[in-house]
Amino acid sequence: MTCFETNLSQIVILNLFQDLIFLDTKFQEQPFLSVSKILCCKNLFKIFILLAINSGNSGNFIACIKKLLHRFYWLSKNNNFMSYKNKSLDFSKLHLETKLVRGGTIRSNFGETSEAIFLNSGFSYNSSETAESRFNGEAPGYVYSRYLNPNLKMLEDKLALLEGAPDATRRDFKTSTCVMASGMAAVFASIMCQIKTGDHFIASKVLFGSCFHIATKILPNYGIDVTLVDGTDEKVWSKAFKKNTKVVFIETPANPNLEIIDIKMVAKLCNKHGAALIIDNIFASPFCQKSFPLGADIVVYSTTKHMDGQGRTLGGAVLGSEKFIKEILLPFHRHTGPALSPFNAWVILKSLETFSLRMERHCANAQKIAEFLEKHPKVKRVLYPGLKSHPQHHIAKKQMENGGAMMAFEIKGKKKDCFTFMNRLQIIDISNNLGDAKSLITHPSTTTHSNITRDEQEKLGITETMCRLSVGLENADDLISDLKQALK
Ligand SMILES: Cc1ncc(COP(=O)(O)O)c(C=O)c1O
Repeated sequence: MTCFETNLSQIVILNLFQDLIFLDTKFQEQPFLSVSKILCCKNLFKIFILLAINSGNSGNFIACIKKLLHRFYWLSKNNNFMSYKNKSLDFSKLHLETKLVRGGTIRSNFGETSEAIFLNSGFSYNSSETAESRFNGEAPGYVYSRYLNPNLKMLEDKLALLEGAPDATRRDFKTSTCVMASGMAAVFASIMCQIKTGDHFIASKVLFGSCFHIATKILPNYGIDVTLVDGTDEKVWSKAFKKNTKVVFIETPANPNLEIIDIKMVAKLCNKHGAALIIDNIFASPFCQKSFPLGADIVVYSTTKHMDGQGRTLGGAVLGSEKFIKEILLPFHRHTGPALSPFNAWVILKSLETFSLRMERHCANAQKIAEFLEKHPKVKRVLYPGLKSHPQHHIAKKQMENGGAMMAFEIKGKKKDCFTFMNRLQIIDISNNLGDAKSLITHPSTTTHSNITRDEQEKLGITETMCRLSVGLENADDLISDLKQALK
């Protein structure tokens, strides 16, 4: 028996309550209806009649009034019926795993546990004044997904948390991020936004094919003076700087031969000459190497690789000081349009929740496989930062957490023998991509670095029998068996 069942006044209460329930339902459909609409004159009038009829009546009535009052109180407290209050955590006290799962999350008013996808290009405004204040920066909020969108914002905030604390660099800055459509968009924007005709640019000479193309073909076309250096030679580095050196770009470990450059050494020189140091940290990932504390000014990523980790999306990110991102990179990014798709941002965001678990396995598998390959009679040499035999192992030990998930090795014989070996692999796939749950093997000379002449390739140590291996999440012993049978 409910409190509404007996007398006339209680029937009136029941009607009122039904009205309110109806309003509640409407409210759920339109969660932004204000409480004032619930407490409209019609309802207040009913409450008044109700009180007049029932004054001095039974305890049941009082219980009902109490219930209604409680309900109105709750509605006025929860200004928005569907509101969810986002938590504000102090991430500086939390570990990587917690940052990966919790960092950047923005929940909508529905309070969903998994982040929502905002597949919208534009935003609407309650008034022209709101639009104006968003555009002139007075009011917070989104304006256009080429600029920013809730999914891009969540990913940017999570990445900034992973890469470094506010005081993580020699320049003591707060880390900010701008995500982009691909790793190459991030590399290109990070360079072009801060260099102009007549400036000097230095890069280490072992670079991913597309980075090499930017350095040797695109930049000279714009009248930028380019010097490529042996990244491992400190003397060469110190001689390379000029008065007009503005930007220095390095990959460490480098694609494809895993060459390691001493970041602290290069950062010191950049600091002395007033040049910005960009680190392509894609091979290491933020799990294995944090470049800001070593002196990087800007860090770039292809989220296509281990951050997505399952080969689904293209994406990239540039990280730097809040000032650099806001004042230098964003005007370039917003007006040239390398925006990341919100859907891709969402996939990457969700993948990052499992990033540290995956990276632990990637790196453990890689170490085991590198040790196996190093002892194999058909393998000429293995280049893996986690092996003592790596030429820059001593630097890797200083600046990397572990050997990472990538390696290169050379097969004894000729190109044909290398192809035969790759074609025999049953588990490991032949691909030019990397950073996937599936182990992927690449022949850089004929694929990722085929835009570089054979002569130049030889100078860079990219031989015809060199394979690059991106170690996946399969069982390490299964991968070793696969490599063993292919090397027979
Ligand atoms: C070192 C390095 N930099 C940049 C990129 C470009 O990334 P994306 O393919 O996402 O454009 C790659 C891709 O393999 C890479 O290996």
